[in-house]
Amino acid sequence: MSTVAGAGSGLRIRRVANGHLTAEETASIRGLLWSAFADTDPMTESDWAHAAAGEHFVAELDGEIVAYASVAERELYVDERPIRTGYVEAVAVAPARQRRGIGTRLMGVVDAHLDESFDLGALGTGEHGFYRRLGWETWQGKSSVRAPDGRRPTPDEDGYIMVLRTRSSPSVDVTAPIDCILRSGDAW
Ligand SMILES: CC(C)(COP(=O)(O)OP(=O)(O)OC[C@H]1O[C@@H](n2cnc3c(N)ncnc32)[C@H](O)[C@@H]1OP(=O)(O)O)[C@@H](O)C(=O)NCCC(=O)NCCS
Repeated sequence: MSTVAGAGSGLRIRRVANGHLTAEETASIRGLLWSAFADTDPMTESDWAHAAAGEHFVAELDGEIVAYASVAERELYVDERPIRTGYVEAVAVAPARQRRGIGTRLMGVVDAHLDESFDLGALGTGEHGFYRRLGWETWQGKSSVRAPDGRRPTPDEDGYIMVLRTRSSPSVDVTAPIDCILRSGDAW
């Protein structure tokens, strides 16, 4: 565990290495995620498995976990070129705490980590307005998944993927084709 940001108004944001959440923290984060996504895109166990595979960003207010995000390394291909990407999963603020700047503060810490550690940030979301304000861009090219039997287009994901350029990003054209590697659950 490492504390990555102190913050005004008592918000504390910690980065927790993969495998280092306590059972109590895991239960609290799962409760938060299931309630935050209930009305839009309900969480599944495979969504949680994707989040649990990454590094954890945990925001606490007075000892209570109020927001969460995860970053896992994935290889994405832009126009056939592999890019070491920090893939952001399961960004959520507890419903009673939303629209008070907590999500913005948490993503500030996540984005700084992506900038330092990866050649691109990426995520899939329906909440483009929230991320666009933070410098994220909507991917405009066609998306596909690379499976052992070849590449399959993922048209349902087109317009859903966003990217964040980092200090080490190669030149990236957001209208180019983008691919990820097949995984269980949602590919993107
Ligand atoms: C999306 C979410 C993470 C945003 O966190 P938050 O703490 O509520 O957002 P903030 O208070 O930091 O928002 C700051 C600003 O972004 C705006 N904003 C928040 N959500 C937005 C959205 N979906 N679209 C456009 N703008 C948004 C706010 O109006 C606010 O703008 P302002 O400062 O000009 O008033 C949070 O609402 C949430 O958990 N939603 C449910 C789960 C979800 O959809 N997660 C993201 C998908 S991966």
